[in-house]
Amino acid sequence: MIKNIRLKVSIVMGSQTDYKIMKLSEKTLKKLGVPFETKIISAHRTPKRMYEYALNAEKKNIGVIIAAAGGSAHLPGMIAALTSIPVLGVPVESKKLRGLDSLLSIAQMPKGIPVGTLAIGENGAINAALLATSIIGNTNKKIKNKLKNWRNKQTKSVNKVPK
Ligand code: RP5
Repeated sequence: MIKNIRLKVSIVMGSQTDYKIMKLSEKTLKKLGVPFETKIISAHRTPKRMYEYALNAEKKNIGVIIAAAGGSAHLPGMIAALTSIPVLGVPVESKKLRGLDSLLSIAQMPKGIPVGTLAIGENGAINAALLATSIIGNTNKKIKNKLKNWRNKQTKSVNKVPK
């Protein structure tokens, strides 16, 4: 049974430098008509901001958090430890290890505090938005239908034979 509650997605990222990737999450959510906000929050550079944000997220009608970080990417896990709102982690490609460090930091959470981990970089940013839409769609029929239409369109766009 779908109840129509207007929950939004919150996109957070560790640095301004992550925004070139996380713009794709915004773009995807916009296409699907999902309300969202975007913030820069660093677990190590702005720990107080992160703490306040995570503790107040529920009061702000946030239904899903997309948290992007690169390198020793502890932001998604730290936020997930402070709230029970689902957290989707996007590993940002790092210079030295091409994002493998980010991926493992986010995916390898010890048991007890899960973070749903997406692919490194662009694909992860887009899929995080699609997955967030799907979660929001559980309580919002309009958004659920928009996602269904979007997926049907995608299916139709795949040619049966190469051109
Ligand atoms: C992380 O460190 C950020 O998420 C970013 O991906 C990485 C590098 O940040 P900058 O040094 O470019 O600000 O906190």
